[in-house]
Amino acid sequence: MEEDIIICHCNEIYKSEIVKAIKEKGLTTVDEVGDETSAGTICGQCQDDIQDILDEINK
Ligand code: FES
Repeated sequence: MEEDIIICHCNEIYKSEIVKAIKEKGLTTVDEVGDETSAGTICGQCQDDIQDILDEINK
C-alpha cells in the first residue's frame, strides 16, 4: 500500500482524503477539489500535485 502523504500543507490535507473525494464525488478540476476538501485554497503551491492526482484517477 502506498504511504499516505500530506499534499496540502496549508490545510493539512492528505493524499488519501483528496483521492477519496475525487472518487466519491467524481471531481475533475483543482477548483472542485478545493471546494470539497479545502486543499489548494490558501497558497496554491499544492495545486500542481492535486492536478497530478486528478490526472492519475481520471485518466
Ligand atoms: S499547500 Fe495547499 S494551499 Fe498551500
